[in-house]
Amino acid sequence: MKATAIAPANIALIKYWGRKDAKLRLPANPSISMNLSACITTTTVEFSSDFENDVVTEGFDNRRILDHIDRIRNMAGKKESVHIVTNNSFPTSAGIASSASGFAALTVAAATALNLQLSEKELSALARLGSGSASRSIPDGFVKWEGEYAHSLYPPDWWDLLDIIVILATKAKKISSSVGHDRAGSSPFFLKRLEALPERIARLETALKTKNFPMLGQVIEEDCLDMHHVMQTQNPPLYYWNEETKEVIKTIRGLPACFTIDAGSNVHVICEAKNEENVIRKLRKYQLIVNKPALGAHII
Ligand code: PMV
Repeated sequence: MKATAIAPANIALIKYWGRKDAKLRLPANPSISMNLSACITTTTVEFSSDFENDVVTEGFDNRRILDHIDRIRNMAGKKESVHIVTNNSFPTSAGIASSASGFAALTVAAATALNLQLSEKELSALARLGSGSASRSIPDGFVKWEGEYAHSLYPPDWWDLLDIIVILATKAKKISSSVGHDRAGSSPFFLKRLEALPERIARLETALKTKNFPMLGQVIEEDCLDMHHVMQTQNPPLYYWNEETKEVIKTIRGLPACFTIDAGSNVHVICEAKNEENVIRKLRKYQLIVNKPALGAHII
């Protein structure tokens, strides 16, 4: 009863911020993301009656990981203890959320080890219960998450986009995104954001469909700034940017690239692959992780 899965982190082009149901991690709004080829979690899960205890060798939140294992063990009607070994292809201290790739890999490995025959939809909905954005790391390529689960809009080779992550953060986040989601409704701009989203999502889907980069860039930046506006005006306010974040945003002005930022100070610079050299030349002084669109979680 052993399986190993890999899963990518993902970058939200339309962000998930706020929840309809905190316990079930049901999002307040649909979100759209791209899986990241260079930010991968590999997880091996083994269940055995020979094991005395559950053991997690490395994890950002072992209680949350074992709660998720309990969920999957209950589904399978099994009681065996588990050993979990996890590795990230990216530095865990780099401020790149490992919860999406981590819970996606954990879900696929554990469900396979326990011989649960789950569809992609079921795996996505199950991963969501561990971490909301993990639901988007199950399907391939460009992914939309609405309600209980996420599905693929396009495979990875649909569009040669790159996400060049400019690594700025070194310290762990002070406030987790879980706590942040729960306070989103305290921002006077939260409902305005929800009202604006259907039209914005439609524009992003058109940009993806027609591979219109200027249109894509405009929507991505608009949604990132809108989410951070909500974050900064909620109670207590969440400020994830620092001076270097702003410096990077200024540096890419005038380039065929756009930016987006999650719950951290790292800047994700998105561009078309044909402009990679041009963009990287300007970002030479920073530590970078260059990502292509990637497959979703799968067994290896
Ligand atoms: O899945 P969580 O709870 O870590 O939330 C992720 C929230 C953002 O990264 C800020 C936005 C997103 O959609 O990924």
